[in-house]
Order: sequence, then C-alpha cells, then structure tokens
Amino acid sequence: MTPEQQRHRNQLAFVASGAELEIGERADCPLPLEQLVATTGTEPYMREYFSGGLTAHVYRIHAGGRDWTLKRARERCKVQNLDGQTSFLNEIQRRAELRALKRDPRFATGLRAIVDTHYASFRHGVLLSPWIDGEPVRTWDERQLVELFEALLALLLGGLFEWDLCPGNTLDDGQIRLFDFGYMYPFDPLRQFNSNGTATPEFHAAERFETRQFFAHLLPLERQGDRLALAAFDTEKRIALETYRRLRSELDARGASTTVVDWLSDIITGWQQGLNGDLDALYLREAWRSHWLDLQDDLDGQTCTAATFSRIDWLEQAVRERYHDLQLLVSVEAAETLQTKLRNARRMARQWQVTA
Ligand SMILES: Nc1ncnc2c1ncn2[C@@H]1O[C@H](COP(=O)(O)OP(=O)(O)OP(=O)(O)O)[C@@H](O)[C@H]1O
Ligand SMILES: [Mg+2]
Repeated sequence: MTPEQQRHRNQLAFVASGAELEIGERADCPLPLEQLVATTGTEPYMREYFSGGLTAHVYRIHAGGRDWTLKRARERCKVQNLDGQTSFLNEIQRRAELRALKRDPRFATGLRAIVDTHYASFRHGVLLSPWIDGEPVRTWDERQLVELFEALLALLLGGLFEWDLCPGNTLDDGQIRLFDFGYMYPFDPLRQFNSNGTATPEFHAAERFETRQFFAHLLPLERQGDRLALAAFDTEKRIALETYRRLRSELDARGASTTVVDWLSDIITGWQQGLNGDLDALYLREAWRSHWLDLQDDLDGQTCTAATFSRIDWLEQAVRERYHDLQLLVSVEAAETLQTKLRNARRMARQWQVTA
C-alpha cells in the first residue's frame, strides 16, 4: 500500500468510527457552538461569505469584539476524489498537529505564518480561526519570500508537507499567512521526500510554490521584458537555495537517510549552477516544469481559468521558439507530439472553464 492509500484508509476508518476530533474548548467559542453550526450566511454577526471554497463554506463573522473565520464543512465536498472527500478531516488533523508544533520553541518562530486555530470540531463540521486582515500576495518581494520559505522550512522539519500553495491559500497582513491545510499531509522528513514517500522526487516545497503560484506570477513580468522576470526568479531561487541548505544541514544532523540528503544535494547543486552560470537555462527548466504540471492539475480537476490559457500560451511558445534548448535541459517528447497535446489541452480547458 502506498502512503497515500494508507492515509485514505486511516481517514475513512476515522470517519466511519464516529469518533470526535476537537481542538480547543467549546466554552471558549465567541458564539455558542450550536449557533456556529447553524450559520447560513444571513445572521447579524455575518460580515462576508466566501462561496468559492470547494471543501467548506467560509464566513467572516464578528463576535466577542473581533472578526473570525468560520469554516463549515460542506455536506459533500465539491472535489470528487478521496483527497477532496477527506479534506475537512485532514485539515482538522493537521491543525491539531500544527497547534502542538507552534507551542514547541524550536518551531514557534518559523511557524508564525500559520494561522491559529481557536476551536475546531470534526463532528460538528466547524473550524474557527482569527480573521486575517490581509491581501492576496501580488508582488512576492524579498520579505514575502523570506517569510514563506521560513514557514516551509519549519513545516518540513516538523514533518508536514503542503501541496496546495496556490494564490488563494496565501495572504499577507504585514506577514505572510497560511490558513488552508486541506491538502497538507504528514511525512517523515528523515526518510521521505514528501507524503508519497520516495515515489515522487520531483515534488518538493519550492517546486510546489513555483508550480502552483510563482511562475504564474512571473508571466506578466515576462511580458514587460525578460530582465524583470529573471531578476524576480533570481531573488526567489537564492532564498530557496538558502532554505534548502539549512534544511539539508538540519536533516543531516538529525540522521536523515543518504537517499534524502543526496536528493537535496542534487537539487541544491542544480540551483547553484544556474545561479552562478546560466540563469536563463534554469528559468526555462523550472518554468517548463511548473506550467506543465499546473496545467495537468487544472485539467485533472476540471477547473480551468484564464491562467490555464496563459500557461498553454507559454508552453506553445516554448515549443515553437525554445525546443532545442528544452531538449538539452529536460526530457521532452517530439515537438509535434507536444503541439498536439497542447492543442487538445486548450480544447479541454475551454470545456472546463470556470471563473476564477
Ligand atoms: N483566516 C482567514 N482570514 C482571512 N481570510 C480567510 C481566512 N480563511 C479563509 N479566508 C478566505 O477564504 C477563502 C477560502 O478559504 P480556504 O482556502 O480556507 O477554503 P477552502 O474551502 O479550503 O477553499 P479551496 O478548497 O477552494 O482551497 C480564502 O481564499 C481566503 O480568501
Ligand atoms: Mg483554499
């Protein structure tokens, strides 16, 4: 059984058992639990309703003199796969672990970015956090990148792997904040690359950020001229490199397997070579990987947006203009095969278009 199958099995067994998983004290809720459970979005304490959430109804409420985020589980998650079906339970499980990690002095600073959980009950389908008075991240400047990677480092060392670092899951209120843990899974950082064990070495924290978010952010910069995009990429990569060096030395000191240490060393060496030499080649390699993977994600989830079409445009242009360079950097199929696949992708994306 793969680690993923094992997790699904354990989570489904937990759901079937009828057991409760609670974080915090019911008595500390700013409104009676029954009232939170019955919230529909029309109450006087309601400030805002986010209807977009796939797993949960998300409300901004006002109670006890401040604003809170109330997440209520949907009867049925809109994502029709096992990860989707178990994502609310998963989020509460991870929040219980995060709460413990945040209280551990070794992780407290690194996990500043992680929103607190004031109260949660799996059986009542309720999750209450302080409201983050922030904005989506538009620029990804140095301060924001440093804060994000600091949080990622602490999460990895704490044994938690975040898969979904998409723009909708990061906010900035003067400090980068993470608050959606529906697709964060536990793993053993000393022996595993991510929550798939050692089966998928291509997925790691910096890759997740670049794929789900950062390369989409670089697209408009590319249109203003390659120099801007390359400079932004250089900043991000240097911060990622420093983070991975710290990660490797920490894991090494804790007795990580050579498989894990060598895997990190290979990534670090590849980045170093790009940063000290051909930055453009490193950019092309990471951009290709990011746009390709995220496109597959959008098609698999049947949720395509304007960003999906921008990615297809980028990939088509890369095949047209940089195919020779690509061949030297990554293993790619024949140009005609790629063009056919991208044409099909565009057709499917039109079919599955949703508004962002
Ligand atoms: N604590 C918070 N403070 C401020 N805004 C929040 C907070 N929690 C959630 N939001 C807002 O609500 C939106 C949806 O929240 P969240 O991502 O947690 O829900 P979700 O159902 O898991 O969504 P999805 O499955 O679509 O990712 C976020 O994109 C964000 O704008
Ligand atoms: Mg989300």
